[in-house]
Amino acid sequence: MYIQQQNLKTSDEIYSKISKSIPEAEWKIHAPIIDKINKLKKEKNTIILAHNYQTPEIYHGVADISADSLALAIEAAKTSANKIIMCGVHFMAETAKLMSPNKKVFLPDMSAGCSLSSSITGSDVRLLKQKYPGVPVVSYVNTSADVKAETDVCCTSANAVKVVESLNVEKVIFLPDKYLADYVAKNTKVKIISWEGTCVVHEQFTRKEIEEIKSQNPGIKIIAHPECPPDVIAASDFAGSTSGMIDYVKNKQPKKVMLVTECSMSDNVEADNPDVSFIKPCNLCPYMKKINLKKILDCLENETNEIILDSKTIEAARKSVIRMTEIGR
Ligand code: 13P
Ligand code: SF4
Repeated sequence: MYIQQQNLKTSDEIYSKISKSIPEAEWKIHAPIIDKINKLKKEKNTIILAHNYQTPEIYHGVADISADSLALAIEAAKTSANKIIMCGVHFMAETAKLMSPNKKVFLPDMSAGCSLSSSITGSDVRLLKQKYPGVPVVSYVNTSADVKAETDVCCTSANAVKVVESLNVEKVIFLPDKYLADYVAKNTKVKIISWEGTCVVHEQFTRKEIEEIKSQNPGIKIIAHPECPPDVIAASDFAGSTSGMIDYVKNKQPKKVMLVTECSMSDNVEADNPDVSFIKPCNLCPYMKKINLKKILDCLENETNEIILDSKTIEAARKSVIRMTEIGR
């Protein structure tokens, strides 16, 4: 459920794969930085992990592993490298630190946040626990370490229903994405107490947009992320995490597809599936897009932007992530 990138040797080989989505003039700027990063990461025993929403020059050019949120957490714990650079957002780098507390973890831009993560704090969770005593807390991995420290078990979009059902209870507090909570509620008998968080990328898609695309492209397969509003998911052929979407395209090879999610996904998946045609209405994640090659090189050269968490937070928050990885996909 993650992609071990081929680490193509020359920038020409990398470019031949992604030339559809990057103009040649832009590639001339990227190529020397990619060469430097790929040389230096080996010398410095550093692994580069990238979320599926990273741009193609990062995803296909410098990442050792690219994955969805669940696989990034699992891979961060397994790596034998001394240092991890997380090409993604702040909660992903924090999660990597929780999974590998003895390694140095870097985030190329510390302001790469997430609208879901910033919608809730640790003290909000403490208040909810007072309001609903004894009800377990399931938090999406898109939360801060402080929220994870107040959480019984984390989940991602790849395993949310499985995690909720693993608790064998009648009711759970499910935080913070109201649309993912709605998706889970539709797929389980467990009563879901939700929060009002949303993803700025996925909340913008509308059912009308999906229906227009369908009528203009007969036979197209529409694949949506579970962070989308419920009527968008209902109008789609399949809903799944970013890796679930990648597997759907890889295994089913639809003639034409639309991925209802962040923009870079289609560019990255298209490069690996040349026979599939992509319709690309998408919304940019302003946080994911803060990461670029220059900032990754700066992390490597100068060890800037290290994630530091106190040991008390690590101890409390780590348990909820480990419990999630034990439940799996
Ligand atoms: P997944 O990769 O787990 O599907 O998450 C999507 C997302 O929005 C991450 O920020
Ligand atoms: Fe957060 Fe949405 Fe961006 Fe993912 S895509 S990092 S959930 S704002």
